[in-house]
Amino acid sequence: MKLGICGWILVKVTYSKLKYVVIRTISHSRILTSAYFAFSPSYRREQRALVSGLLSHMKDIKEDTSFFLLRRNIHRIEKGLVMPSRRPVFAAEYIGETVDYYLKALKNCGGVSREFDWATDVLHQYFASVESHPYVDKARRAFLEIAPVEPGEAVPYKHGTVRSPVTNDELLSLVRQRKSVRTFLQKPVPRELVDTALEIAALSPSSCNRQPTHYRIYDEGPLLREMARLPLGTAGFADNIPMICAVTGDLSAYFYERDRHSIYVDGCLSAMLFMLALETVGLASCPLNWAEIDSRDQRFEKMAGLLPHERAIMFMAIGYPDPEGKVAYSAKKDLSALRSYNQASEAARRPELRDEVRTRVANWWRRLRKLVAPAAEDMTLFFILYESELLALVRSH
Ligand SMILES: Cc1cc2nc3c(=O)[nH]c(=O)nc-3n(C[C@H](O)[C@H](O)[C@H](O)COP(=O)(O)O)c2cc1C
Repeated sequence: MKLGICGWILVKVTYSKLKYVVIRTISHSRILTSAYFAFSPSYRREQRALVSGLLSHMKDIKEDTSFFLLRRNIHRIEKGLVMPSRRPVFAAEYIGETVDYYLKALKNCGGVSREFDWATDVLHQYFASVESHPYVDKARRAFLEIAPVEPGEAVPYKHGTVRSPVTNDELLSLVRQRKSVRTFLQKPVPRELVDTALEIAALSPSSCNRQPTHYRIYDEGPLLREMARLPLGTAGFADNIPMICAVTGDLSAYFYERDRHSIYVDGCLSAMLFMLALETVGLASCPLNWAEIDSRDQRFEKMAGLLPHERAIMFMAIGYPDPEGKVAYSAKKDLSALRSYNQASEAARRPELRDEVRTRVANWWRRLRKLVAPAAEDMTLFFILYESELLALVRSH
């Protein structure tokens, strides 16, 4: 049976109305909300990926096979080194494991990596800065036995009075130049240019410097065509995309569920730098939404060979912009709608009001207890008596 446009509109309207009723009902209750999401396949996939990430992280703690743990601990140590009021001994509780991770990383990468050099330099400075402590001394001995003797320069440094190398106007014109481009010239995109832009994306901040982001790039053959059609938002220009990139995040970088959003935040911070950097090498881009659709997620996982704890964050079309192609204007919201300063609730603004409310609630509570207590005592007595009667009855049989 064919529905036709009117039929589809009717289905859509009915669905929207039904959904509104359901969402309004469950929005009043946490339990109903949980029940609702228990039936959502996309949430299940996300939760599975999260659990898989936690498991992988725990395995890494046992086997020390990833850089995440070393990265995180080295960053914690360098943060300790830059604190204005540094303690004479810090990081004692995790310096042992950090040196362990360091030794394992040395085995894994053979000591050749930017990050490994950084770890070496920071540990050298740490051991030269902290006072004696049994845990620290033990770790120091293990480290000095194996670490390169000459430390490098990847250690905390003075910020100094630096002036921005680009003016506000220059930055503004670069940012204004970047627009979402959907019409590309049909010529190959040089990988060296993309790598140049990625070196800039690599400088983006990430929580605890964990750097969970990865760029999966496709620029040839049927794989490119199929990948370009995977995100919903490429309808109408998928065949025009000369290079597509999937930005993915690795959930095995975290030990706690509370960090589950970090891959998205870190991934997007990096992607923004990448898009700006692409502009500087003459390329254009269009960020592409990766909607949570179970079947597409599965297809992407299979095609890209994603591990269970790796998640797609967004896609990006990349290419030389066609000078004749049109770009959507996409007006931005006004400053007044973009920000607010010192916005707070009335209670937070007037602590005396909060205290008054607290005192009033405490008084009500006291009065209520006074009122209820005698009755409660009677009830307790009743239950004690009733129970002893019951026990006597049971015993007598
Ligand atoms: C996370 C994200 C997802 C997007 N997804 C799509 C998409 O699927 N298809 C598309 O044509 N544009 C997509 N865009 C581009 C937006 O439509 C565009 O950024 C917005 O209209 C502002 O325009 P501008 O980028 O030219 O400033 C996406 C942008 C972002 C940030």
